[in-house]
Amino acid sequence: MEEKKVMLSGIQPSGDLHLGNYLGAIKNWSARTEEFDCYYFMADMHTITVRQNPADLRRRTLEQLAQYIACGLDPEKNTLFIQSHVHQHAELGWVLNCYTMFGELSRMTQFKDKSSKHKDNINGGLFTYPSLMAADILLYQPDYIPVGEDQKQHCELTRDVAIRFNHIYGDVFKVPEPYIPKAGARIMGLTTPESKMSKSIPEGCVFLMEKPEDIQRKFKRAITDSDTENPVRYDPKEKPGVANLMNIYAAVTGRSFQAIEAEFAGQGYGRFKPAVGDAVVECLRPIREEAQRILSDKAYLESVYKAGAEKASYVANKTLRKVYKKIGFVAK
Ligand code: TRP
Repeated sequence: MEEKKVMLSGIQPSGDLHLGNYLGAIKNWSARTEEFDCYYFMADMHTITVRQNPADLRRRTLEQLAQYIACGLDPEKNTLFIQSHVHQHAELGWVLNCYTMFGELSRMTQFKDKSSKHKDNINGGLFTYPSLMAADILLYQPDYIPVGEDQKQHCELTRDVAIRFNHIYGDVFKVPEPYIPKAGARIMGLTTPESKMSKSIPEGCVFLMEKPEDIQRKFKRAITDSDTENPVRYDPKEKPGVANLMNIYAAVTGRSFQAIEAEFAGQGYGRFKPAVGDAVVECLRPIREEAQRILSDKAYLESVYKAGAEKASYVANKTLRKVYKKIGFVAK
């Protein structure tokens, strides 16, 4: 049998998951289960580069895992784990720090952004974050890294570091490709249709675990426009708010834009917005209920992350041993 290609991605448990995360990323992940050998982890070690409340970090890490499973990521078929449970990440991260240049790290836009937002805590971890991310990736020798556009620069640095290392020591790392979804999958904020849905603007952000009445209220307040002639039609340039709602409606119902235009022909936003809200509520209901069920079953959740860490550690260790040998560390 031909070996499956490997995919790996990490998500920081820095905020609650929302509809944009689900429709833009997580939903597609479960569709890849059969074709690829997939690793997904909660990047808790990356999250502490910005100060966290410990109880919240712990809660969100477990909630995220429960939500991934509830979104359809089958833990029997995907390797789901918590980054800090696999010590090889920290170890290879250190090694790769020594093969990543100060100048390279200084050019990272995420570092520049985050250090300007958190001026009181520009720590070393924030600066060397990309070396740890390179370690996360290279340990598993993946073919593809599914990430958002914002992580492209980090993926490119990972490739550069892998190539540099291989150049010195021979073929140790596979050089992976980023795998970036097309723009259509981007869900914008309900109150800011010009920018991505984000937890930092909660009025325009629908969280996966949110109550149905709160979701409905957010959709009723979504920004549209004053078009009364032919309101529900797909025109992302002229009508970004409506296009975003249509995108969401299309994604959760599977209907085409044409079918949606026909469904709401001659009707105003007073009918359209609550209809999108209803469809989203129905799409999220089973996810929310399943996530709550999983979260209340602590023994199950623990068995998932333990098994995930064990499998991940086995694979990661093979790469780390090879690296240690190449660079001249004495075998234990
Ligand atoms: N830096 C990524 C983000 O903020 C999270 C991440 C950490 C990651 N390690 C990774 C993504 C490895 C892909 C692969 O979104």
